[in-house]
Amino acid sequence: MEIIHISAECYPAAKVGGLADVVGALPKYQNKVGHIGKVVIPAYDTKFIRESEFEVVYDAWSNYGNHHFPYRILREKTNKLGFDLFLVHIQGLTDRPSVYGYGDDTERFVAFQIAALDWIVQWEHRPDVIHCHDHHTGLIPFMVSNCLKYAPISKVPTVLTIHNAQYQGQFGWEKLYYIPAFDLWKGGLLGWDDAINPLASAIKCAWRVTTVSPSYLEEMMSNARGLESLLRQERWKSAGILNGIDNEVWDPATDQMLNKNYNLKTVEKGKEANKRALCDVFQLDSSKPLFTFIGRLVDEKGADLLPDIFYSALQQHGDRINVLVLGSGENWVEGRLNQLKDVFGGKYNAYIGYNEQVSHEMYAGADFLLMPSRVEPCGLNQLYALRYGTVPIVRRVGGLRDTVVDIGDGGFGLCHDQASVWDVTHAINRAVDLYNDKKAFKAVRKTMMKIDHSWDRAATNYIELYQILK
Ligand code: ADP
Ligand code: GLC
Repeated sequence: MEIIHISAECYPAAKVGGLADVVGALPKYQNKVGHIGKVVIPAYDTKFIRESEFEVVYDAWSNYGNHHFPYRILREKTNKLGFDLFLVHIQGLTDRPSVYGYGDDTERFVAFQIAALDWIVQWEHRPDVIHCHDHHTGLIPFMVSNCLKYAPISKVPTVLTIHNAQYQGQFGWEKLYYIPAFDLWKGGLLGWDDAINPLASAIKCAWRVTTVSPSYLEEMMSNARGLESLLRQERWKSAGILNGIDNEVWDPATDQMLNKNYNLKTVEKGKEANKRALCDVFQLDSSKPLFTFIGRLVDEKGADLLPDIFYSALQQHGDRINVLVLGSGENWVEGRLNQLKDVFGGKYNAYIGYNEQVSHEMYAGADFLLMPSRVEPCGLNQLYALRYGTVPIVRRVGGLRDTVVDIGDGGFGLCHDQASVWDVTHAINRAVDLYNDKKAFKAVRKTMMKIDHSWDRAATNYIELYQILK
């Protein structure tokens, strides 16, 4: 089967979070089992894109409403990602350094989706599936089925994967004219709650809907930023497929970003060396347990709780623990996390910003990784932590619930029920006890590293789902 993934992110070309990791890995694994996975993203001005070689495969004009624009489709020449990566280059709209966060994001992603479909519709053959990811590509299922100019591909099945229903991409009906011509009576398929809602539209129009963990699918029925009733209505065509991880990128035995590589046999020494290097850089004490957080500093990740959690844990444990944070997001959280450096120098540090290398060093050098998420559709950090022998401390929610089993239940992680300072500090206390029980701690590390979360399983789950649609 030929599967076209259309997305806003794809690692390593453009990454903000886990969406990039998924779209950068799933097609590679689909190719490994004999299918053809391809990826289409906007041509941003990122380092990877600037430094890679592309060839122009298509060159044309398109429009959203009366806004006409020239665009080019570029193909990465060397297949270095293990799949064909195509970029949609629209001068002035896509060619910017960031993926999101501009006042005209609606126009950028509408133009991207239209250009991508204009290109696909004139291919000599039809792909077997168009697989859309999140709201940035959420207008595609509607447009494929209903826009007159896409009639030749109207029978190509579309699949939507919801990575995060918190973001829906709503815009006003006054922009309806952006959408290429369709029978106006079908316009209701675009809307939800008095606005055009790309995520809602995709849920209505895609042939199948998936979410990135089974628990998140269930949770969305009662907690999905206003889309609950729609999701309940479309439950029949929905499935929860747990994400995998790219075992080639995330392997402590070969990871080029680490200070020292290690495997199941050498984990103790390997982690120690990585921890020492990390602690040297961040002025921490490698003889004490190292607690970390990596991620977007936003409410859904429970990031607003972090300053109080660290304050209370560091007060309580005095000189017996270290904390290191890597993340960026809400200004006030960044500010408070920075302030803590003055209070707890030598046992606390924070890197405010995005740094792929430091994240790998942290998964390898840390003892514990905190994820006190309020919402976590899947979560990849805990899966990377497991593979690197770092014990996850997670709230029982979404994909965290599906992937982390508490040591009290015979598992390998530390789980808590509430996103609250009390629950997390209690879990940190349990973690300190575990750390001090050297034998148990070593055993937990080995158990975690043996767990296989590679994409092999999930890639097959997706293929089975597409096959139903043939
Ligand atoms: P989400 O996509 O909701 O942000 P995930 O757990 O699915 O959460 O994926 C987050 C991804 O982004 C992981 O690969 C994680 O290592 C990475 N990441 C998040 N914040 C940072 C950061 N500040 N620096 C480097 N990598 C980060
Ligand atoms: C989203 C979710 C995260 C998930 C990722 C990849 O960003 O917030 O939980 O792991 O997508 O599917």
